[in-house]
Amino acid sequence: MHVTVLTIFPELFGPFLETSLIGRARERGLLEIEVWNLRDFTADRHRTVDDEPYGGGGGMVMTAPPWIRAVRELTAARPAWRVLLSPQGRRLDEALVRELAARPALVLLCARYEGIDERVAECVVDQEVSIGDYVLSGGELPAMVLIEALSRQIPGVVQLAESVVRDSFRAGLLDHPHFTRPPVVEGREVPPVLLSGNHAEIERWREVAALRATRAKRPDLLAGAELTAAQRRELARLEQEERAGVAGPASDRR
Ligand code: ADE
Repeated sequence: MHVTVLTIFPELFGPFLETSLIGRARERGLLEIEVWNLRDFTADRHRTVDDEPYGGGGGMVMTAPPWIRAVRELTAARPAWRVLLSPQGRRLDEALVRELAARPALVLLCARYEGIDERVAECVVDQEVSIGDYVLSGGELPAMVLIEALSRQIPGVVQLAESVVRDSFRAGLLDHPHFTRPPVVEGREVPPVLLSGNHAEIERWREVAALRATRAKRPDLLAGAELTAAQRRELARLEQEERAGVAGPASDRR
């Protein structure tokens, strides 16, 4: 997969692109990422990227010509799906990550939030993407969030294919809780089944624990989740308990 990033702060991407999974994926050629400075596509001596808003009001607006020139030049030889990071976009979730990961090439436009001339979106953007309903100062962190989520979908980037398959949201549920040494922390023991060596039992425990975590922390996800037989049984049991007034979702926490 090839990702081109356009920003006025290319330096923000340095260590992010060199470290850990993303750094290794790039070294191994699984992921190609280019970061371009929008100012390199300006036409004036001052490398201007913004101007006063028509209609008045405070702040500055990012001017369209450098964006349009940059996107056209950078996609001339390699057509790409062009994404503007913006709080007005479609909210990023695992389904959107997978849709975007299926595209061979992306261009990510990182605007500063004060505003970008509307004609950029009209002329050189295929899709606006938001990473959540809050406003950041620019699209750089959202672009990094997207790149990291995308990279995990590329075969070979995450060592254990299984860990991606099992990760949160893959089946529409949260991940099960994890434990490692020491066996007792602040008087809290590891669930004994995880020490049993019985892999079938452990797998069943994890399925049920994922269901319980989802129900306690993100019950809204249950409607769209694909449940295993063990998970359906556990959900029915929890619902029955709740109807009988034994335990509410808050006490499902482990
Ligand atoms: N730019 C500013 N805020 C943003 C957000 N929440 N998502 C994507 N891009 C943004």
